[in-house]
Amino acid sequence: MSPRYAHITGWGMAVPEKRLTNEDLEKMVDTSDEWIVSRTGIRERRIASADQSTATLAAEAAMRALGVANLHPADLDLIIVSTSSPEHIFPATACLVQDQIGAVKAGAFDLLAACTGFIFALNLAANMIKTDGISNALVIGSETLSRIVNWKDRNTCILFGDGAGAFVLQASDEPGGIYTGVMRSDGSGGDLLSLPGGGSKYPTCLQSVYDGLHYIHMNGREVFRFATRVMTDATQEAVAAANLTMDDIQLIIPHQANRRIIEAAARGLDFPMDKVMINVDRYGNTSTASIPIATCEAIEQGRLKAGDWTVFVGFGAGLTWGATLARWSGPFPVRRKLKPRRYRWLARLRSILARLRRHLEGLIWGRGKTA
Ligand code: ACO
Repeated sequence: MSPRYAHITGWGMAVPEKRLTNEDLEKMVDTSDEWIVSRTGIRERRIASADQSTATLAAEAAMRALGVANLHPADLDLIIVSTSSPEHIFPATACLVQDQIGAVKAGAFDLLAACTGFIFALNLAANMIKTDGISNALVIGSETLSRIVNWKDRNTCILFGDGAGAFVLQASDEPGGIYTGVMRSDGSGGDLLSLPGGGSKYPTCLQSVYDGLHYIHMNGREVFRFATRVMTDATQEAVAAANLTMDDIQLIIPHQANRRIIEAAARGLDFPMDKVMINVDRYGNTSTASIPIATCEAIEQGRLKAGDWTVFVGFGAGLTWGATLARWSGPFPVRRKLKPRRYRWLARLRSILARLRRHLEGLIWGRGKTA
């Protein structure tokens, strides 16, 4: 049997309209534009409006990615939503997205590896295409971190923003797409970056809310030290696994947490900064959404072309870190251009009918009766 490859054939992003600038933050906490820019490189971030959520941003990015890939949502076999700010603990945000876009035959689940989540999800989906025989996968990174940030804590609230990005992965016998993946964890550093409340250890109660356990807690200095080390290691490992060297790489698309972390990693790799994608200045740290958002902008700016070797690399809570090496290919050639967005109202109709059917079945067979 000839080897199967997992190509990235679609990409899309969705960010809220509302911008929160450093000047806005100066009015909320004791900070300054000068401090934030010099320590992080961030100038502004996007904040979700009341009617936006992790699932709605994810579905929006997904529809754009399907449009680029020219793929009908019903042809998807798999949806993975990577997020640390899910719509609920359950059901999975991925299932809500599956319903919103009408991906009727896709298995859908969430993956939590914080900011590294998109890398883990990408590696997982690519391996399922290569070895499990699925054809089409949708990988989404989506966050509304503004809902879990303590807006009185200047150590964290200046860093994070909201947004979503998505890739469509498709099977092909032609070489290209995702080649190697590195996935690592070190739970001994779990306390360095956490959201302790709302789980089984500290269930939500008045005391947990009073103690602020439903917010992000972070030891910034320790995370900084860890990040600069692992970004370099993971990139080198993913490149070496394909028998390439850093000279073969056209673009690195790193997790957008802090400009200084990215610069330190590039220095560690002896890699030129003009071949590293940065947009943290305009979106802040959107956690697992940052790599696909940065990829969409790199393509828009003409920095990623068919045949280019690129490395996606990230780190995050867990602690987790990882990298993916890909040879960029772009959408498969098509005969007829689909408009997946048009299928969205059909998805809505199908969802209403499914709820109605369950309601009628309940009336006919009796509610609450199990036998
Ligand atoms: N404005 C002004 N002063 C501030 C602010 C602020 N917003 N925040 C902290 N300070 C103060 C601190 O209180 C400290 O004062 P002190 O010395 O009197 O105690 C001083 O500034 C310096 O603090 P440091 O922590 O040393 O600042 P540093 O240069 O390390 O920058 C930062 C802090 C930006 C948080 C940095 O450590 C960092 O980026 N760390 C990585 C964080 C990160 O990437 N987290 C996300 C991981 S991905 C995920 O999974 C979500």
